Amino acid sequence: MAYNLLKGKRGIIFGPLDDKSIAWKVAERAHEEGARFTLSNTQTAIRFGTISELSERTGSEVIAADATSVQDVEQVFRRSMEVLGGKVDFVLHSIGMSLNVRKGRKYDDLDYGYFMKTMDISAFSFHKMLQVARKMDAISEWGSVVALSYVAAQRTLFRYNDMADAKAALESIARSFGYIYGRDKKIRVNTISQSPTMTTAGSGVKGIDNLIDFTDRMSPLGNATADECADYCVTLFSDLTRKVTMQNLFHDGGFSSMGMSLKAMMMYNRSLECKDCLDPDDPELLKSLDD
Ligand SMILES: NC(=O)c1ccc[n+]([C@@H]2O[C@H](COP(=O)([O-])OP(=O)(O)OC[C@H]3O[C@@H](n4cnc5c(N)ncnc54)[C@H](O)[C@@H]3O)[C@@H](O)[C@H]2O)c1
Repeated sequence: MAYNLLKGKRGIIFGPLDDKSIAWKVAERAHEEGARFTLSNTQTAIRFGTISELSERTGSEVIAADATSVQDVEQVFRRSMEVLGGKVDFVLHSIGMSLNVRKGRKYDDLDYGYFMKTMDISAFSFHKMLQVARKMDAISEWGSVVALSYVAAQRTLFRYNDMADAKAALESIARSFGYIYGRDKKIRVNTISQSPTMTTAGSGVKGIDNLIDFTDRMSPLGNATADECADYCVTLFSDLTRKVTMQNLFHDGGFSSMGMSLKAMMMYNRSLECKDCLDPDDPELLKSLDD
């Protein structure tokens, strides 16, 4: 159902790759709510993904940019203001990538070149967007900037690797920049900490199926889907949340506040009686797992 929450608003959506992407769902919802926006991704993602389909469907121009390049980010803001006819009201940062995760490097054997890339792509690019936007005065007063995060910023989750450090930095940037941007320009900066979701980036984390099942059983409301995340983003871009800033907002069905749920406890107890189940205390097994 549409509520015209973003009628007359202009925005930039960084990160739609294909129809599973969270940014894709946000673009669809923002379009339904009356917003006009541009879309951005890397040249490679534009070539291999299906963003042109989204662009046609929402009447949005696609602007190629590597989010780690300040020049590219400047060009996205410049071109967006030209195309949309003025400053933007909202920006979505929906970008993440770890070569250490992709190449199966364990957390105690990281490649530091990859680690720097993880931080640059997944966290520092957010600072670059905010700094560029502020210097160009590209966001209207009471505008809203949102980046997507994950609970691994606060808690250790098996196999999330150096992305946990990137998410911790991302959330910190939202607080630090949120203070400056709020004080000077009345602009909100927040992160949404989303449930694990089956997307291209999500499926890069080995064993994501099991994690999705676990968090679903642990959460009183169940996992939040990408569509539900898009609904939440729309509220944060709207005028209904004008005093929400510098927050990391959990959108995870309650997972982040849980210790143990009945469903998860029942599964755990059942596994104790299971003869064929793996023994997590077996040193041979531990050695064979890449964590
Ligand atoms: N999928 C999940 O389980 C989950 C959970 C919580 C948070 N998130 C976060 O949501 C965001 C979106 O991820 P997604 O799950 O929709 O996956 P996705 O793979 O659809 O999106 C990730 C996007 O990042 C883009 N990207 C990578 N390097 C880039 C660069 N240098 N410059 C510009 N763009 C670049 C990719 O092209 C891709 O479009 C990420 O920040 C991710 O960490 C995902």
